[in-house]
Amino acid sequence: MNRLIFLFAAFIYAIKPFAQNMPAGSPLDIIPLPQNVEALDGHFTLPDGGISFSIDGSDDDILCNYIASLPVKFLPADMHEADMHIEITDSKTPANEESYTLTIDRNQINITAPTETGAFYAIQSLLQMTRGGILKQLECCTINDTPRLAYRGLHVDVSRHFRPKEFILKQLDAMALLKLNSMHLHLTDGAGWRLQIDQYPELTSLAAWRPYKHWEDWWNGDRSYCNTDDPRAYGGFYTKDDIREIVKYAAERHIDIIPEIEMPGHSEEVLAAYPELSCSGKPYTDSDFCIGKEETFTFIENVLSEVMEMFPSQYIHIGGDEAAKTGWKNCPMCRKRMEQENLANLDELQSYMIHRIEKFVTSKGRTVIGFDEIMQGGLAPKAVVMSWRGIEPGYKAMQQGNHAIMTPNSHCYLDYTQDAPFKEPVSIGGYIPLEKTYSFEPLPDEATPDEAKFLLGVQGNLWAEYITDDSHAEYMYYPRAFAIAEIGWTMPEKKNYADFRRRSLSLIEQLRSAGYATFDLANEYGDRKESQQPLSHMGRGCKVIYNTPYSKQYPAAGDSALTDGVCGGWTYGDNKWQGTMRDFDVTIDLGGVKPVRYVGATFLQSVGAWVYMPRRVDIYLSDDGEKFTLAGQAWCDVPDTSAEIRYKVYSTLCHSQARYVRIHAIKYPKPGSWLFTDEIVIN
Ligand code: ACM
Ligand code: ZN
Repeated sequence: MNRLIFLFAAFIYAIKPFAQNMPAGSPLDIIPLPQNVEALDGHFTLPDGGISFSIDGSDDDILCNYIASLPVKFLPADMHEADMHIEITDSKTPANEESYTLTIDRNQINITAPTETGAFYAIQSLLQMTRGGILKQLECCTINDTPRLAYRGLHVDVSRHFRPKEFILKQLDAMALLKLNSMHLHLTDGAGWRLQIDQYPELTSLAAWRPYKHWEDWWNGDRSYCNTDDPRAYGGFYTKDDIREIVKYAAERHIDIIPEIEMPGHSEEVLAAYPELSCSGKPYTDSDFCIGKEETFTFIENVLSEVMEMFPSQYIHIGGDEAAKTGWKNCPMCRKRMEQENLANLDELQSYMIHRIEKFVTSKGRTVIGFDEIMQGGLAPKAVVMSWRGIEPGYKAMQQGNHAIMTPNSHCYLDYTQDAPFKEPVSIGGYIPLEKTYSFEPLPDEATPDEAKFLLGVQGNLWAEYITDDSHAEYMYYPRAFAIAEIGWTMPEKKNYADFRRRSLSLIEQLRSAGYATFDLANEYGDRKESQQPLSHMGRGCKVIYNTPYSKQYPAAGDSALTDGVCGGWTYGDNKWQGTMRDFDVTIDLGGVKPVRYVGATFLQSVGAWVYMPRRVDIYLSDDGEKFTLAGQAWCDVPDTSAEIRYKVYSTLCHSQARYVRIHAIKYPKPGSWLFTDEIVIN
């Protein structure tokens, strides 16, 4: 038995000395909210010299090393004199691995936990209670705490923009504070390969570098790569030593680093360096691996073998999302594979690959995670589904007896803007404020208790196309990562947004004082004002005749959406904007001939999401619904090159009488692009 005694000078943990300003909120404020807090009378006052502490029952030094790495001073003290006593009880079960009890009375702090992980989390609660060391008094209490879900993750996209090792280590510290236990590293994608692989040096001499700093310049340009020594080279990669350091640092914080190697899609960078792995055999042609070629499997298995040697995590992520599947159609090798393996379609061809790789990974004692597209063509037996297109695919996987991690883009995509687009950095689109993320419930209402066992966890994803700077990435994580942590840890019936927001404000202060760039929650603007109260106008409640149909994917309120007085918020995805992939053409019946002075409709542009302004809007009036007269036209003056989210009213003034008003919006010509409007205002 290893008995370690230290002085834990928690008060010195404060990075910036603003102790005079007592932070707002209760000292019991903790994120994620513990399962059970019993407040007791009195306070524990932090001794001026720090808190002496001892650890009992631990056979390894990880917890001690972690505490030693905190910016605190340690002094040995006798266990019987220690202000804080930690006891690892060694009574671990699968249900309590991360649990702890923290008791603070007037004279002593006691932590008991079945594992070092639980004790580590008790320390995190304590660090938050002291606001990182600012508070000199702790409220007496007993906390009994345990997480709701086993997997609580954050995703870091280092392909679109490489982030230095130091950035990763810094986020691991914040994750630890939030009791998040899984960092998903998106190491490979078209924008760059980020991992040393000894057997394939071109992955890091070529595929890790591009002659463009900004992703959108690369994407809208020639999407090329360059050599390391090219003066324009932008990018980078982690060496094996970097990874060993990251993995060790994470382990000290009870965090698994889950590497992701993308397949079969999002692989342009691999196929530029090793074109023989693509269907065409030519660089800059395909985005998917050729599944017909055995060389593809040799490559992936060799890469994954080196990956598993570097990363000890149980889970290995193999991507699986958004394969274009175009090259496979006409590839003789892929066709031969389909014949030989009796595969009916391209989904089954993809599934063949996923099954085969899953079998390989499983044979090494690891478990595959893939985005929900891995269900296409049949799900591999032990694969974990990361559900991003809603929670339905994840639920389907749970019903089949596969585990699921929920990261729906409706709530958990932290690359979407978190406040009014006019005041936020340019983003890929969407609008997911803190409250929206916090409202997420990962367990489907209809799940049975047996199905619920297959809900592994929750994750926040930060795709980085538009996030060039490291500080911008932090700004997008915090505080929404707080919400991810609380969803994963705290039982849903205990959640309360107003209380969470209050706790978030003080944790933001703590993170800022430790040098993190966070969103300014205190000055949040909120949703688009127009969306917050119904709009009155003459056309409200009038019948809409659709000359072209709206998309079933974005119906908003359906046939009444354009005259229901409800305007959209910042995002087209809020179910208040109606979408179409065709020209938008409707006629509104005012119910009788009336004076019409104004007709207008707002459209939205979000280039990152393929949503564009109409080129032109023609407005017609008619008495009889048959003979229409052009009353006005409005043209687009919004550039289609900027990713900035834009809103524009297309309107005309008129001085006529009419019963019918027809609006014809001529769509942006790009195939696959969208047109969205929220309300047609007639006065
Ligand atoms: C994804 O967002 N393509 C997983
Ligand atoms: Zn092929």
